[in-house]
Amino acid sequence: MELKDKVIIITGGCQGLGRAMGEYLAARGTHLALVDLNQDKLDEAVAACRALGAQARAYTCNVANEEQVQQTIDRIAEDFGAINGLINNAGILRDGLTIKVKDGELSKMSLAQWQAVIDVNLTGVFLCTREVAAKMIELKNEGAIVNISSISRAGNMGQANYSAAKAGVAADTVVWARELARYGIRVAAVAPGFIETEMTASVKPELLERVASTIPLQRMGKPSEIAHSVAFILENDYFTGRVLEVDGGLRM
Ligand code: NAI
Repeated sequence: MELKDKVIIITGGCQGLGRAMGEYLAARGTHLALVDLNQDKLDEAVAACRALGAQARAYTCNVANEEQVQQTIDRIAEDFGAINGLINNAGILRDGLTIKVKDGELSKMSLAQWQAVIDVNLTGVFLCTREVAAKMIELKNEGAIVNISSISRAGNMGQANYSAAKAGVAADTVVWARELARYGIRVAAVAPGFIETEMTASVKPELLERVASTIPLQRMGKPSEIAHSVAFILENDYFTGRVLEVDGGLRM
């Protein structure tokens, strides 16, 4: 698929990887619908995409809320007249051990901590994929959906919630690639390793340094390197049902 003049939706588009993807695609003539929670940050991201010559619009929407997702996708289709793709990038972390015993005290990962991550990182991906695919079929628009999984889908200590969601996203990438191919919609995923964004900035620096030293390329990734991988998937018409691992060679 050519990137120029296509309409792509990016969830979590106002900072970090989503913002880098927006700017990467805007510079290549893609029209962008940025979906996120924070209006001010969205406005900044939209302005950055427009400065690169793209048409861009902001949509405040919680990807875990079915009604909001349905309304947002309807509005995007009305505003742009077409939808050629979706990047399911919105995500959160609520890390913690399932069971932790410290100084004889036992604590547990709360159900709220588990559910928050499943709601955004897995249910949100399901809802956005379902609504966008339905709208693309209705409009007879072909294109691609790119899901952002993670290296943690292999099972990372302290991330029972996040690992489960990201493994679910990888599995459903295969499901949706099979189900939607007949409508001219490809579905693939990118599994980033450790990338420099606001999300990883919340992790303790000592831990990040320790992780970076175990990466064969000896550094964290840059958001533009993930944006490049997403663009590769959007552009390559024979890529579907697979997870592209972009992690500097790190294995979990
Ligand atoms: P980030 O925290 O910098 O940005 C995430 C964006 O998603 C934020 O703008 C946030 O407001 C938005 N968001 C959160 N919940 C939302 C909701 N319910 N509805 C709509 N928007 C919502 O994170 P980052 O690092 O840019 O991560 C982007 C994606 O990449 C996430 O899915 C993350 O799990 C994944 N990822 C990131 C890695 C990294 O090292 N930074 C590594 C592997 C995967």
